[in-house]
Amino acid sequence: MNFIIGILFSLIAVTILAVIPWVGVGALGLDWLFGILIPYAALLTFFLGIILRVVGWARSPVPFRIPTTAGQQKSLPWVKDNKLDNPSGTLGVIGRMALEVLVFRSLFRHTRMEFREGPKIGYEWEKWLWIAALAFHYGFLVVILRHLRFFTEPIPSFVHWIESLDGFLEMGIAPLAGFAVPGLLLSGFVLLAALTFLFLRRLLSPQIIYISLPGDYFPLFLIISIATTGVLMRYVGAFMQYLLKWDVLSVEVVQVKALAMGLVSFRPTIPEGIGTIFYIHLFLVCVLLAYFPFSKLMHMAGIFLSPTRNLANNSRWVRHINPWNYPVKVHTYEEYEDEFREKMVEAGVPVEKMPEASEPEAQDEPADQAQAKPVPEVQAKSAPEVQTKPAPEVQAEPEKETSAEEEPAQDKEASPSESEADSTEKEKKE
Ligand code: HEM
Repeated sequence: MNFIIGILFSLIAVTILAVIPWVGVGALGLDWLFGILIPYAALLTFFLGIILRVVGWARSPVPFRIPTTAGQQKSLPWVKDNKLDNPSGTLGVIGRMALEVLVFRSLFRHTRMEFREGPKIGYEWEKWLWIAALAFHYGFLVVILRHLRFFTEPIPSFVHWIESLDGFLEMGIAPLAGFAVPGLLLSGFVLLAALTFLFLRRLLSPQIIYISLPGDYFPLFLIISIATTGVLMRYVGAFMQYLLKWDVLSVEVVQVKALAMGLVSFRPTIPEGIGTIFYIHLFLVCVLLAYFPFSKLMHMAGIFLSPTRNLANNSRWVRHINPWNYPVKVHTYEEYEDEFREKMVEAGVPVEKMPEASEPEAQDEPADQAQAKPVPEVQAKSAPEVQTKPAPEVQAEPEKETSAEEEPAQDKEASPSESEADSTEKEKKE
C-alpha cells in the first residue's frame, strides 16, 4: 500500500509542478519570473547546495583505509594481487574510479538473489539494470551536451558532431510533403525508454517496490516529464501546428536561444512568443536543479568522495594514524596487575608477578614455589596485620609509601573505595 502512496504522491507533485508555470506564464503573464528569476535561483541553489554537501563530506575525516576489497590485496611478492579490485596505489585507484564512473563496473557485477524451484537460492546477473542505467546516464549526458547549442554562440563544433552522431539515422518523424520535419535525435528517446524501464523495474519487482520511497519515484517522474515536454516541443508541436493549426505545443527555437543567451551573459531578456510549453520544460528543469543537492541524485558527486572506492588499500605497510586522537592516559596490564595483584591472588586469578612476601623467608623462596603456594596461606599471613591497622591511617600517612608494597594485605581488606584511593595515591607518587 505504501508504494501506491509513494507513486501517487510523486505523480501529483510533478503534475502540480507542471501546472504552476502553465498558469503563471499562460494565464498570469509572469514570463520574467519563470524565465529569469526562477532559473537564476535554481542555479544558485544547485551550485551552493552541491558545494556545501561536498565540503561537508570532504571535511569528515577518513582516518583509516576502508576500500571495498573484491580481490587479493598486495602482500607477499609471490601472491598475485588484484590491482583494480584492491588497488595498492594511486594508479590503481584512478583505474578503478574511471571504470566505476564511466561504465558502472560495480553495477555490472551486481547480482540479485532469488528463490528458484526446489526451493533453491539462485543469483541472477542484473544485466538489464546495468544496460538501462548506462542508457539513462549517457542519454541524459548527450541531451544536455546537445542543448549547449542554445547557450553558446558560436556553437562549439563538438556539439555539431554529437548532434550528427545522435541523428545518424537521418530520419524525420513525419515525412510529410512541404513540412520541414525535425530530424530524429536518438538520445531523447533512449533517455525516455531507460527511464520507463527503471520505473517498471521498481514497480514489478516485489523486493524493490517494498524499499522504494517517494524520493525514488519523484526524480524519475520529474526527468520523465522534462524529457516528455522536450519531445513534445521538438516533434509534436510543429506537427500539430502544421496539421491542426494548433500551436499549444510549439516553440520558437530562435527566441529560446535569445532567452538562454541572455541568461548566460547576465543580460536577461524575455523574447516574445516563446510558447508556454517551453516555460513548463524550463521550470521542471529548475526544480530538478534545486532538488538535486538534497536528493539521492547527489551520488553523481558522492561517487568521487566515496572512501570505499577512492582509497588505496595500503594498510599493511603504511600506518594510518587517527588525526583527531587526543592523548589518552593508558592503563597498562602491568599497572592493572600492580593495582589488583593482591585481590587477584586472593581470588585465585593467575598473575604474572607474585606479590612480594611480607616475611623475609618467603622472599627467598623460588618463584615457582611461591606460585604453588595455596591462596588461603596468603590470606592467613596478611589478614591479621590489616585488621590491626585502621584504613584511614594509610591515607593520613602518605610518607609510608612502601608499606602498601610491604604489607600487601592492607589493600585486601580495605573497602573498594579505599583501595581505589590508595592506588590513585600510589599512581600519583609513581
Ligand atoms: C535537465 C535538463 C534538460 C533535459 C533532460 C532536457 C531534455 C530535452 C529533451 C529530451 C528534448 C527533446 C529533443 C531532444 O532530444 O533534444 C528537449 C528539447 C528541448 N529542450 Fe530541453 N532539456 C533540458 C534542459 C533544457 C533547458 C535548460 C532548456 C532551455 C534553453 C531546454 C530547451 C529545450 C528546447 C527549446 C527543446 C526543443 C528543441 C527543438 O525543438 O529542437 N531544455 N529537451
